[in-house]
Amino acid sequence: MDERAGVDPRRVDELWRRESERYAREHPRCFRLRERARTSMPHGVPMLWMASYFAHPPVWIDEGRGAHFTCADGRRFLDTNVGDKSTFCGIDPEPVVRAVQQRVAAGAQFMLPTEDAIAVAEELARRWRLPSWQFTLSASQANTEALRLARHATGRYRLLSFTGNYGGHGDEMLTAFAGEGRLSYLGLAPSAGRDLDVIPFNDLDALERALAGGDYACVFTEPALTNEGVVLPDPGFHEALRSLTRDAGTLLVFDETHTLICAPGGLTERWALEPDMVVVGKAIGGGLPLGAYGMTAELAAAFERGESLAGEPGELATGGTLFANALSMAAARAALEEVLTPPAYEHAASLGAELADGLEAVVREAGLPWRVQRLWPRSGITFSDRLARSAAEADADEQPELNAALRLHLANRGVWEAISTAGPAMSVAATRDDVAAYVAAFGEFVADVTGTD
Ligand SMILES: Cc1ncc(COP(=O)(O)O)c(C=O)c1O
Repeated sequence: MDERAGVDPRRVDELWRRESERYAREHPRCFRLRERARTSMPHGVPMLWMASYFAHPPVWIDEGRGAHFTCADGRRFLDTNVGDKSTFCGIDPEPVVRAVQQRVAAGAQFMLPTEDAIAVAEELARRWRLPSWQFTLSASQANTEALRLARHATGRYRLLSFTGNYGGHGDEMLTAFAGEGRLSYLGLAPSAGRDLDVIPFNDLDALERALAGGDYACVFTEPALTNEGVVLPDPGFHEALRSLTRDAGTLLVFDETHTLICAPGGLTERWALEPDMVVVGKAIGGGLPLGAYGMTAELAAAFERGESLAGEPGELATGGTLFANALSMAAARAALEEVLTPPAYEHAASLGAELADGLEAVVREAGLPWRVQRLWPRSGITFSDRLARSAAEADADEQPELNAALRLHLANRGVWEAISTAGPAMSVAATRDDVAAYVAAFGEFVADVTGTD
């Protein structure tokens, strides 16, 4: 921790110790479940991130309703991690529950299409103004297929992205996120990022230089980076990105998996962007597994073309046995038609703005230099006096101990926001009381960590 955060590191250490003891005391059953799980699962969790994303141990879940869940110790939490945006519809949206119950009773999986798939594709086409869609089970898989389509359609193999842009656990996506020596992922072949270049977000000179060679199939990126806190594009960034990629014959692929919480058509709609492909996932499944990618008519024609640009026959390498299964499609149809409606988006965005205002008021009152991030339903705290414009700036401004202490302190006050790189977000099921509860808990933390309580 450095002095730019404006708080005494000894207070943060002491707070961490005290709050850790309380957390352990209040979650005996969760701790016992983790111990039991260690013998049957590495790290004592069924999926690594359920432990590695948090500085403190995970809770084990009993049930969830709306914007809240209850852990195995009977403690109730407001979930402001929103399942890393996957439960933006709320945890048990009634239309999705109903659709899933009906569908599962009539068959969940056939490896044949159901009419729901057409309704979902048509609705996504309307929202993102891209006519053709394909489905997977996750956004990682959708990104993997989108990159293959970009390569097939352009006959080029190299890819370009931005350091800190995360698109899932595919080789190229991980390499882009890691950037130049920022993170190391074990288990990747040295060749994992061989056909990929990464440049800093918001660096138009680097972008122009990179694209000048005309050898990239696509640029793939989130429209605003969301896995480093929030990194917004500079004014003019997207206009330049679009015109430079067009000039270079390079496709533009936007990953809206997180940013689809900003509007029915995500940031593509909010900022009138014109991508060639869009990737979505998480919340569009209403809580069930689903990923999708949309494409222009030209790309749909390339998808259908059973040969490469070099004239070699074959089939585009996409698909999976359970992709587009009947159950996921029924859930997505209900989510899109009945939950993720324009008024629901307005509701979540207004709660997000109220949350950011509340955080700003607490920070100002305490005389701290911290800045507040804003992205419609999502907010977040930067423990420095600037908002990052790139992953390098976000890294430089990181205060891991303070960040961890905040999240543990919140957990002990019934607010779950344990993922260290994600800020709080308000789902469509959240209420103004939930915003008030978050701001109050944050205020308690600030008082505690600054010694004004
Ligand atoms: C922007 C973005 N794209 C894609 C993914 C991958 O999603 P999934 O893990 O559901 O495949 C994530 C996951 O956090 C993400 O943040």
